[in-house]
Amino acid sequence: MSDLTYESVSAALSESVKEQFTTEHFLHLEETGSTSDDLLNRIRSGTAKHLDLIVADLQHQGRGRRGDRWEASSGRNLLFSIALKLEEPKETWCRLPHLAAYVLGSSVESVLTVEGQLQAKWPNDLLYEEKKLAGILVETVLVPEPFAVVGIGLNVNMRADEFPVELREIATTIYELERCESSRSFLLGEIVSGFANSYPNMLTNFGEVLDWLEVRSVLSGRQIEVVTTEGIVHGIGHGLGNDGELIVDQGDSGLKSILSAERVLFR
Ligand code: BTN
Repeated sequence: MSDLTYESVSAALSESVKEQFTTEHFLHLEETGSTSDDLLNRIRSGTAKHLDLIVADLQHQGRGRRGDRWEASSGRNLLFSIALKLEEPKETWCRLPHLAAYVLGSSVESVLTVEGQLQAKWPNDLLYEEKKLAGILVETVLVPEPFAVVGIGLNVNMRADEFPVELREIATTIYELERCESSRSFLLGEIVSGFANSYPNMLTNFGEVLDWLEVRSVLSGRQIEVVTTEGIVHGIGHGLGNDGELIVDQGDSGLKSILSAERVLFR
């Protein structure tokens, strides 16, 4: 039986979070195509509730951003998606990926004992020593009701040699940092708690999210190349704007603010 049960995930939740995140909100699957696809389908069928969560031990069609695949061995990492009802003004929705990075990153930092900080790579990857520890994919559905699905892949207990060869140099896991296994249930409970406590209030009180990201931004002060649908932008990472947009210092061409990008490379 999997370690991921409602009881184990909710064990450390406060009473007020437990009231919002009851057993009906939790679904564990041994395997599935993609937890995000499952949750998107539930939303489209009109049966989803705020904070519904689907977690799987194994995904056969795990999706990353830009249509990349998301790979993980069975039962090792956290692969889950959480539904957030979109009730705040539409102008604030672009802040959600950054809020998700803050919630996930704060939860991971609460269990890390190693020296050093996580790094946030705009728009919403978490790195440690420049290796990817987690990825976030935010998708929205408008009908029958506006919802966001935040899909999270967090590398927890996988060993470096379990990654495909091409990922070994660019990905890491909490196990590789701590040299011991972490409780997936406890981590998931921390993350659920983070969303329940920060969403939607921190979409409007966004300053703390921005401060958290700024301190950890791996792109700030670095030479970067940002591939957008309108072309490639080169410059120096110059922090974040009020909505979490990436500011690039293009030298003589001035500052450019970027809301979304296909890919960001840094040196
Ligand atoms: C990225 O960095 O490209 C985002 C990766 C997101 C992967 C997670 S795993 C759980 C959820 N289900 C999916 O199919 N994708 C997300």
